[in-house]
Amino acid sequence: MSRAVLVSIMPDGAVSGPYPGSAIAHVGTYRRVFPVTLERMYENVLDWEHLPYVHASSFTSIRCLDYGAWGWRAEMTNPGGQTLLIELRLDIELRRWITRNLEGPARGAEIWTHAFEIGPERVDINVDFFVPDVPAEARAKVGQAYARAYETLYDGDVPMMVQRARQLNRRIEPLRAGDIVIGRSDELRERLDRGEALIAQHSGREFRIARIDNGWVAFPALCPHLLGPLDAAPIENGKVHCPWHGYEFDLASGECVSGSSCRFIRRPEVCEDGGELILHVPD
Ligand code: FES
Ligand SMILES: [Fe+2]
Repeated sequence: MSRAVLVSIMPDGAVSGPYPGSAIAHVGTYRRVFPVTLERMYENVLDWEHLPYVHASSFTSIRCLDYGAWGWRAEMTNPGGQTLLIELRLDIELRRWITRNLEGPARGAEIWTHAFEIGPERVDINVDFFVPDVPAEARAKVGQAYARAYETLYDGDVPMMVQRARQLNRRIEPLRAGDIVIGRSDELRERLDRGEALIAQHSGREFRIARIDNGWVAFPALCPHLLGPLDAAPIENGKVHCPWHGYEFDLASGECVSGSSCRFIRRPEVCEDGGELILHVPD
């Protein structure tokens, strides 16, 4: 059965959370409206893997201990070298998620986020910070620090959610057989040597053109995992590194070398003919 009362004020002014014995001070609130659907918000909340990549200034590593539709529990490190044990629980019925710091510098702190859909692609969130052992006179300052930290975290999430929504809304055409001339190979090679990312279109889709040991290759400008941007992603030793979850893909084989089963599927070949590079999709 769902709770009607989320928090209650104790006689001494502390706020009681949902866990037995917890009596944690409310130190502040953060609010923000996001230009996305609730579905994108929930997806972002459950996506523990992006934390050390999209929020590299806050987290340096993550080791997931458990996850599911209920949420996740993970051990993370921060840039100061401290280890944190964090659990996030999502309650879709009540449109909220609760993050608890189980171990680490903010041990005992709970962050309660409630989401309200206020338009077709508009979600208003209300984030309440509950932090134990903060003297009454320091609460506002601590609350502001939490609000600033959340502002930075969400600044990283918004482009990710918006871009993913845009890609999901696009119609993806199947690859059609045919040849597309990309340009002169010597000129393209010079541009590549200058550090430019080369993008060409085939069948209405974008492909990135790169060189590996034995010649030219094309690969999708969108990551096969969750459609992250590979159009300018770093390439090293024949592998491209996705900025959203850190998966690496071998450009020659198309395989993900980070342990995931996702891979580049059908993609054009790059052929050279009369000094010109051609994107070729066979029948
Ligand atoms: S979108 Fe997840 S690794 Fe690329
Ligand atoms: Fe995030």
